[in-house]
Amino acid sequence: MSMSDHIRNLNEKRSLLTNGGGTVRNSKQHKKGKLTARERITYLLDKDSFSELHPFAESRMPGLQSAAGDGVITGYGTIEGRPVYLFAHDFTVLGGTLGETHAKKIAAVMDLAAKNKAPMIGLNDSGGARIQEGVVSLDGYGHIFRRNVLYSGVIPQISVILGPCAGGAVYSPALTDFTFMAENTSQMFITGPKVIEHVTGEQIDAESLGGAGIHNVVSGNAHYSAKTEKEALSAVKTLLSYLPHGAETPSPAKKEDARPLLHTLVPADSSKPYDVLHVIKELADDGTFFDIQPYFAKNIVVGFLKLGRRTAGVVASQPKHLAGSLTIDAADKASRFIRFCDAFHIPLLTIADVPGFLPGIQQEHGGIIRHGAKLLYAFAEATVPKVTLIIRKAYGGAYVAMNSKAIGADLVFAWPNAEIAVMGAEGAASILYGKEIKASDDPEKTKREKTAIYQKENSGPYRAAACGMVDDIIRPEESRKKLIQAYDMLAHKEEERPKKKHGNIPL
Ligand code: HXC
Repeated sequence: MSMSDHIRNLNEKRSLLTNGGGTVRNSKQHKKGKLTARERITYLLDKDSFSELHPFAESRMPGLQSAAGDGVITGYGTIEGRPVYLFAHDFTVLGGTLGETHAKKIAAVMDLAAKNKAPMIGLNDSGGARIQEGVVSLDGYGHIFRRNVLYSGVIPQISVILGPCAGGAVYSPALTDFTFMAENTSQMFITGPKVIEHVTGEQIDAESLGGAGIHNVVSGNAHYSAKTEKEALSAVKTLLSYLPHGAETPSPAKKEDARPLLHTLVPADSSKPYDVLHVIKELADDGTFFDIQPYFAKNIVVGFLKLGRRTAGVVASQPKHLAGSLTIDAADKASRFIRFCDAFHIPLLTIADVPGFLPGIQQEHGGIIRHGAKLLYAFAEATVPKVTLIIRKAYGGAYVAMNSKAIGADLVFAWPNAEIAVMGAEGAASILYGKEIKASDDPEKTKREKTAIYQKENSGPYRAAACGMVDDIIRPEESRKKLIQAYDMLAHKEEERPKKKHGNIPL
């Protein structure tokens, strides 16, 4: 054969491969409101930046050899100029299921991502372990899970769920840092509706069992819910824009960093709810905040903002939900986020307006002690720059847990209205002066008086500032400037921890 014949032959093979499972299956994919694997890659990556790896790899199993790429496309490219590595299950080829070769392709691209310290993105659309290949499929998953764990904290790992993902196809995402889902077209479950009905008799459709709504609101397995696949992929690009990439050139604090609106955003009455997102956005560059897991444990907000062009991970009480108290789910959500930021050298900003851990039998029996301890652990363990801003109340154990000075904050700022105390003034007065209040002619009036006295003497920020627990009491409008200056000052922070194999976070 001449070179031209060889090239013609190669082109024919390539065009077969790029057609995935064929025209009929591709259009079935479109009819479901889904893109094909290659369309997803094209949408996600910078134009013409994709280089495919192992396109001609095929299964060793007779009968499966001609399946395009063995049901997965792997490779590397760039997103806004930044290198990323990815795999994309091709549901049109053997249901995107994972066999031996498919698993080897994914493991190989994960290894490359780790060696090159670049983010790894998985576009998941798979029926899980390929039944025909039996135990080698299970073994393949084992190799991927192990890499998910080994590379955790080494490279950011992002999962996008874009179809009905079952079995092993959901454990790998569960081991990654962030999971994005698209409404109505993506689901995650260990066993699907048919198996559940067979085993337990329970009847449920796929979306109610494991759709974006369930995993973003109830289970907490997902971090982002998009209306469409394209929106999910765009959100991945936005997330990446916050992750450190090469040398950053932060801008120093400027006069215009004063934000007068901050003065009015938090009600004086410490029991009045408000939306902390307004405060966060007012602090941020361009009023922009990337909210992670916005529908789960809404009493705590986590996400990324930029302060003088430098990214910070925010952990903020949300007084709009459960008065911003700490719960089991809130502690889980925040701890994992804190550990992500710490692993990838992203400074932390804690915004506290927290009445305490949520009291209740369900929380106690559910293990709030164990879960709440994760938050203490995560903050204390983190060595990145850590700054706390107390914007209203910070009571009891929750004050300590929300990155107090004692737990390791580098700097704590409080607004002049802040109340830092073991508990709210009314509760404290009832305990300290209970007998006096009961014996009084007008118990309500005495209670009010005692509460006011306690509040004046104990719960403002000045006592905490006098003891060094607060570094400075600042006006709300100067917060942004102070924070930018603080992160500039802490930019080269180094903090050692005792040498050990690893700690034992309460899981
Ligand atoms: C082989 C599979 C398959 C599988 C789907 N297919 N799952 N082939 N092994 N696990 C094939 C189908 O036969 C079909 O092929 C094509 O993929 C598309 O599947 P459909 O069922 O037609 O699509 P849909 O109706 O959209 O349903 C998708 C689905 C369903 C929800 C994923 O196929 C399903 O429930 N599959 C089984 C999922 C499952 O239980 N997996 C767990 C495996 S165990 P044709 O040729 O007809 O188009 C596992 C354990 C790992 O993963 C353990 C790690 C710890």
